[in-house]
Amino acid sequence: MTRTALEEGVTRRDVLKVAGLTGLGAALYASGIERLLPRALTAQATDQVPFYGTYQAGILTPVQNHIQLVAFDVQTDRRDELIDLLRRWTRACARLAASLSLGESDSQYVPPEDTGEAEGLSASHLTFTFGCGASLFAGDRFGIAHKRPAALRDLPTFDLDQLDDKWSGGDLIVQICADDQQVVFHALRNLTRIGRGIVKIRWTQAGFQRSKAADATGGTPRNLFGFKDGTGNPDLTKDKVRNKHLFYQWQDGSPWLTNGTFLVVRRIQMHLEVWDRTILKEQERTFGRERASGAPLGSTNEFASVTPDQRTLHGETQLPADSHTAVAHGTSKEQLLRRSYSYQAGVNETTGALDAGLLFVSFQRSPDQFITIQKRLAASDRLNEYITHRGSALFACFGGIQKGGYIGDALFA
Ligand code: HEM
Repeated sequence: MTRTALEEGVTRRDVLKVAGLTGLGAALYASGIERLLPRALTAQATDQVPFYGTYQAGILTPVQNHIQLVAFDVQTDRRDELIDLLRRWTRACARLAASLSLGESDSQYVPPEDTGEAEGLSASHLTFTFGCGASLFAGDRFGIAHKRPAALRDLPTFDLDQLDDKWSGGDLIVQICADDQQVVFHALRNLTRIGRGIVKIRWTQAGFQRSKAADATGGTPRNLFGFKDGTGNPDLTKDKVRNKHLFYQWQDGSPWLTNGTFLVVRRIQMHLEVWDRTILKEQERTFGRERASGAPLGSTNEFASVTPDQRTLHGETQLPADSHTAVAHGTSKEQLLRRSYSYQAGVNETTGALDAGLLFVSFQRSPDQFITIQKRLAASDRLNEYITHRGSALFACFGGIQKGGYIGDALFA
């Protein structure tokens, strides 16, 4: 058993369950041969991502197959009630990330503490990433207005935005990711259940990627336009790059946000029918990349650097200046970590077209990184013809949660 689980008050039955020990195994445990457990657990624990750490999980964690974003509005005005909820969520998340049930169901006369649909499922790399929106500070309901980072305010309206309120804003955000959709849903449901009366769901959005198990190439996943998406992310294995582009530093102005980061969510509809009628050459010039290899036009290597390339072939520039890659790249001064997923939400009742697209998720040290890039894209991205931004939200994600602490404790200290 991991120390995390022990410190969270894990029961003996939990241990047996996680270890997958029944029959003889349970008898061995009962007879005191507990030193067998760590090895048994290691096998089961390989798909657990620690909930506690310097940074929150779900940022640097390799992208899982599924995401559920849930934005809550806080209904109470009482600081102690909000803090109590954050403590209860902390306990719940630490248990769920360790693949433990939320509690025993010993009495037949009360509802079970855990809703049960993840019984027997592994953690599937379940992660939780918590943040707060500017509205949490509004009106100083919780005595934290003076702590709002200056950068945490509404994103500007960008040209071509067609935002719908129902996908925007929120006092609190939880990004839940895992490789199993039922594990994700179970987490969403139980956090919501624990929060009942204190918070209410403002919006929730689900996203998917190809499942890693089904991908023989093991390469960069593809978006719904069929292109590899994620190639140009910064190399975050380097401390210097992480500190410069991703994680908030205490000297940025709000020490409670140290090791946190800003999260931007954009719901971007992709007009699949229009795209599907577009010739391959134009598709490739729209992204500035080859569809098959993902290489920037003019190169054969997916990871070749993107240099505004004005060389011409048959009278055309190789990498069009208005291609998504060229415009997003700019001079590469601003960089962000894109951790996006695809979404599909049935049919648009007015047009009869599929409502599908990109649940764009990016993490950055300052929202200005996103704003600068998005201003450029809104002004001249060739991709604009095929997409519409429908939702938008900005959150400040807390630094990592420490054992004994709770989600967002530095903000309320
Ligand atoms: C539906 C909307 C979008 C689609 C389908 C899309 C797709 C892509 C694709 C296929 C690439 C090239 C491969 C890669 O580097 O990942 C790319 C690169 C990139 N995109 Fe997007 N993207 C979308 C929206 C956005 C938005 C809203 C932003 C930020 C404001 C953004 C920022 C970037 C950046 C920074 C790069 C890397 C550029 C470089 O090589 O330096 N994208 N995107």
